[in-house]
Amino acid sequence: MTLILKGDKAIESAKELILNGDIVAFPTETVYGLGANVYDEGAVAKIFDAKGRPQDNPLIVHIIDKRDIDMIARDISDDARLLIDEFMPGAITLVLPKKANIPSIVTAGLDSVGVRFPSNAIAQEFIRACGVPIAAPSANKSMHISPTKAEHVMNDLGGRIPLVIDGEDSDVGIESTVIDMTGNIPTILRPGAITQSMIESVLRKRINTKEYDIKPASPGMKYRHYSPRVPMVIVSKARLSEHYSKIKDKGLSPVMIVSDDNIEGQKIVVGKHPKEIARNIYSALRQAEIDYDYIIVESIDDAEIGHSIMNRLTKACKEMIT
Ligand code: TXA
Ligand code: MG
Repeated sequence: MTLILKGDKAIESAKELILNGDIVAFPTETVYGLGANVYDEGAVAKIFDAKGRPQDNPLIVHIIDKRDIDMIARDISDDARLLIDEFMPGAITLVLPKKANIPSIVTAGLDSVGVRFPSNAIAQEFIRACGVPIAAPSANKSMHISPTKAEHVMNDLGGRIPLVIDGEDSDVGIESTVIDMTGNIPTILRPGAITQSMIESVLRKRINTKEYDIKPASPGMKYRHYSPRVPMVIVSKARLSEHYSKIKDKGLSPVMIVSDDNIEGQKIVVGKHPKEIARNIYSALRQAEIDYDYIIVESIDDAEIGHSIMNRLTKACKEMIT
């Protein structure tokens, strides 16, 4: 059975579970995570099991103090220090050379480790109460859409984990920016709310991106992530109605995920501003796949956070109609 708790009671139970080798789902500002004590290999193994996650996909280590980074990682470059100072706590994960005390199950045998300091108050309370860094991927079933509400976690992992800490809906709504800081040139492996231009203006130089690499630098990139359970296409605003009618004429029950209300047909409105869209998009996709059998998502301007949203959408979809 899976409990869902709020407030002090949730934190108390979570601490107890984590220190006894179990796993707990918790809110963060990006998406909900599924955490274990990073030093407890048996507990970390339970994460892979509950999610059905391939063993070769490494987990991110969550901390609540910048000084903890030195317990987990080594050879931290000046560039990495600049990003830590500017963006932590927040929606960024730095991939750094790992220290030997981090079990290899956490990093899938890699010599590097992803480190993240979440800004969400409940995430911080949870990690602080546990007193150990928390290894955590997103709290969805492997290959499914990341959860931004406690209810999403229950839908995916209910019955498979002991506890979900019920916090508010995730504010950012898409997963953190993952940036590899182990080489000479910082390289974005997964774009997020902290964008390439934001990072470049702090580092005062150009950086690389490797988001669609054939040979994945981030093991996570080779998996089909973020897939809804029904077919999904991305369609430009101008062609939404035309495509909607075409699908309806086939006898299917399509829904459009759109920026505003000014369109005829079944729709879920996610907002106009890219930040709003990021916050609402996963929830909209989850609702759409339950209530409809075909998803038509309006394409978004592929810049800044819009680029990060399009990164997720293109991974989830079957085709793009422009
Ligand atoms: O916002 C987030 O990052 C959320 C919250 C819970 O913190 N977590 C999350 O974790 O999205 P996950 O496991 O779903 O995605 C982590 C990504 C994966 O694609 C993984 O391959 C990559 O980060 N990653 C982790 N450690 C890595 C490493 N050492 N080198 C390269 N990529 C790494
Ligand atoms: Mg994930």
